[in-house]
Amino acid sequence: MTALDLSSPVAVVGAGTMGQGIAQVASVAGHPVRLYDAVPGRAREAAAAIGARLDRLVEKERLTGADRDAAQAGLRPAESLAELADCGLVVEAVLERLDVKQELLRELEEVVGEDCLLATNTSSLSVTAIGGALRNPGRFVGLHFFNPAPLLPLVEVVSGFATDVTSATRAYETARAWGKTPVACADTPGFIVNRIARPFYGEAFAVYEAQAADPATIDAVLRESGGFRMGAFELTDLIGQDVNESVTHSVWQAFFQDVRFAPSLAQRRLVESGRHGRKTGHGWYDYGDDAEHPEPHTAEKAPAPAYVVAEGDLGPASELLALVREAGIGVREDDEDHGTRLILPSGGQLVLADGQTSVEFRDVVYFDLALDYRKATRIALSASQDTSPGTLSEAIGLFQALGKDVSVIGDAPGMIVARTVARIVDLAHDAVAKGVATEEDIDTAMRLGVNYPLGPFEWSRRLGRNWAYAVLDDLHLRDPSGRYAPSLALYRHAYASDKREGTTS
Ligand SMILES: NC(=O)c1ccc[n+]([C@@H]2O[C@H](COP(=O)([O-])OP(=O)(O)OC[C@H]3O[C@@H](n4cnc5c(N)ncnc54)[C@H](O)[C@@H]3O)[C@@H](O)[C@H]2O)c1
Repeated sequence: MTALDLSSPVAVVGAGTMGQGIAQVASVAGHPVRLYDAVPGRAREAAAAIGARLDRLVEKERLTGADRDAAQAGLRPAESLAELADCGLVVEAVLERLDVKQELLRELEEVVGEDCLLATNTSSLSVTAIGGALRNPGRFVGLHFFNPAPLLPLVEVVSGFATDVTSATRAYETARAWGKTPVACADTPGFIVNRIARPFYGEAFAVYEAQAADPATIDAVLRESGGFRMGAFELTDLIGQDVNESVTHSVWQAFFQDVRFAPSLAQRRLVESGRHGRKTGHGWYDYGDDAEHPEPHTAEKAPAPAYVVAEGDLGPASELLALVREAGIGVREDDEDHGTRLILPSGGQLVLADGQTSVEFRDVVYFDLALDYRKATRIALSASQDTSPGTLSEAIGLFQALGKDVSVIGDAPGMIVARTVARIVDLAHDAVAKGVATEEDIDTAMRLGVNYPLGPFEWSRRLGRNWAYAVLDDLHLRDPSGRYAPSLALYRHAYASDKREGTTS
């Protein structure tokens, strides 16, 4: 099955933000494009706006003058749906309402030829439900572009319950021919990206709701330690709190209120207050010329300990030992495997966040997961009231000696990065087990769709097969609501690895 022939006209219905972007992509790829909108005159304005954007691309030397001319000549506003009769593909990008989309598709089916592929750009409705309005839902597929469509490479190609394999393949190949990176996925709430990304927001909000840290500190830790391009608070301010909350809400509802996808009360209050983010001038942060951006909490300078004793294998934090040695701090390795921790001269312990709370152990400081301990510029530490000030000070001094800023947060099991990554890894395994997408496509989607530094499976491999399961198992014990319950898929993954390791050792 090949991509749609370039001579075949593509129609885009709905000439708003997404429709314009998709029309631009299809016309630059070389198709004749028809743009239709229910509001009279809007398609014409949109075509002019696309033309102006193409001019700017030529000025920036990202498009040749000849390609611009060809694209502009091929792009034509349509006055009625009847003008779309000869199209080989129609992508709808109208209002996000099931009844509106269904009604439109019923009308389109009467107009276009039998072999015309029909597609929706819906981000939160069920492709199966929209396609249910059609006599022939086999030719209907989700083509979920990301905003801005001309810039972002990812397209989720969503197969509804009734979508023919040939239609999905043709849509996939067409997206690829348009220079996009398509990923194939089943019709599930949130598809790939909006399903698996939920904990990135939810866990940050939960740490804030638990009063363990403020937004600026959580964002800084996610960026500087987790390697995420933006923190959850600043990113949702950019997306719009109303938009982000509405996606969370619809995914949660579509999963029959599965607690793993539950919305955040703190974000609800923010939306209710009208603080929708950058676009309203206020969100988690204030914007505008004289707005102050709060700084993350950063610990005062503390003396470095003279040495540490390393017990057991630090797992994902193993690299720390080399960094400690390079900083001129002695490392004594204790072969007695009491656990996986560093013992400080005070006698207190420094332990990688594992889903337990610091009140459960004597004199412990947890440190958070980092994507790369060498490159991380900030590390979060968490301690309880029972942690001795000397231990906390030595822990702070140790990481400062490695060149890191240190943020001390409250006692939050799984801290910030560890719980977030563990949950993303879990949802990714769960999605594969349920036939949503392949591991490779999930990794691609999360890297390209939301800029994660690693795909969940790449991350999982780096962390070790049991790591995410162990963290979630501990978290689940401390919060038995089900929010952290590891999926059966992750359990199988962890258990299979034990068996395999057992038979090979
Ligand atoms: N904005 C995003 O970031 C984004 C990203 C991915 C997917 N989507 C999805 O894309 C779709 C469009 O979103 P948008 O942000 O471009 O919306 P938008 O409001 O900018 O544009 C929608 C356009 O559709 C037109 N329209 C409404 N009903 C119509 C009908 N029956 N027939 C023809 N035209 C009609 C409106 O006049 C409007 O011009 C939605 O399904 C949305 O969920 C949006």
